[in-house]
Amino acid sequence: MAKKVITDLDLNDKKVLVRVDFNVPMQDGKITNDNRIVAALPTIKYIIENHGKAILFSHLGKVKTEEDKKDKTLRPVAERLSELLGKAVKFVPVTRGPELENAINEMKDGDVLLFENTRFEDIDGKKESGNDPELGKYWASLGDVFVNDAFGTAHRAHASNVGIASHLDTAAGFLMEKEIKFIGGVVENPDRPFVAILGGAKVSDKIGVIENLLKVADKLLIGGGMAYTFMKAKGYEVGISLLEEDKVDLAKSLMEKAGDKLVLPIDTVVAKEFSNDVPFHTVASDEIPADEEGLDIGEKTIELFTKELQGAKTVVWNGPMGVFEMSNFAKGTIGVCEAIANLKDATTIIGGGDSAAAAMQLGYADKFTHISTGGGASLEYLEGKELPGVSAISDK
Ligand code: 3PG
Repeated sequence: MAKKVITDLDLNDKKVLVRVDFNVPMQDGKITNDNRIVAALPTIKYIIENHGKAILFSHLGKVKTEEDKKDKTLRPVAERLSELLGKAVKFVPVTRGPELENAINEMKDGDVLLFENTRFEDIDGKKESGNDPELGKYWASLGDVFVNDAFGTAHRAHASNVGIASHLDTAAGFLMEKEIKFIGGVVENPDRPFVAILGGAKVSDKIGVIENLLKVADKLLIGGGMAYTFMKAKGYEVGISLLEEDKVDLAKSLMEKAGDKLVLPIDTVVAKEFSNDVPFHTVASDEIPADEEGLDIGEKTIELFTKELQGAKTVVWNGPMGVFEMSNFAKGTIGVCEAIANLKDATTIIGGGDSAAAAMQLGYADKFTHISTGGGASLEYLEGKELPGVSAISDK
């Protein structure tokens, strides 16, 4: 059943509770990447333009002790949001009580307020992460309607997304709507041919994703550290490459089931050490020297993957092809990113995490149809799992 979206709500003069995912990377109190704040702007602006009062809240990191609170405040996020919106954002440094309630009561139409990190409620008994019913009910009592725009958190059933939703009319914000359309769309009803590319270090992190994509995709291309476990399962020696011995049998059975749907690297860039300062060279995948490790896919694999991508109507990419933080081993990730970005007439999606960061760093962000703001949430969605944050949104 289709989910309610923000445009289905009457926001005029309403106190609009908005769960956003402002869990942004920070260093020394400074935001190092504001993508998630930027991604929430359409929803916030829509509420302002439609004369609602936007009461925003989010988690930031994990908060287990009083000490953790110091560098987990959302105050810098309120400042950045205010710059991006070009208007004042009232920051309320608590998660409940008269200070918050009074600040909400003083709001005028079009005002924006952000209250403190919802996980500050976790110190005293995991109220937020444990979806404490009283907390969800309390937060719901602060507003008239609820908009959930926190796709990145949708795989969690917390008080601030699922708890509140059981008390109020709940709609998806624009970001949530987009994520459901694209990430949900690839697993439910992709335009074909549908090619998926998976990378990243470990098979164990992505077993569910591999299994589900083998069901729904027409081709699955595998690169990154996880490819070596598959190569081992093929009977190749992988030297000192990353290898999950306990996943070799699983990789073997996945390959048997997949047949030629699954495509592995045919060559690999190897070096004697995990370092950008040592000599490196490219070998065929079945010729990795005993004392070397594979750190990137080779040129021939980039060509092969590029060929496999031609004609695709849907592409989803998750995970780097090599150690792209080191320039010597970044070519595979860059090559794949370019190949996807250059596709015409295809819906191209990056499933969050490191590959999203890579595409942005490389300046390809606007060449993709959609770059997910979710890490764990996109992976669970691609696994075909139901996301509690999405399920809790009211049906149309
Ligand atoms: C994320 O960054 O993946 C989300 O914000 C969820 O964060 P969490 O893993 O701490 O729940």
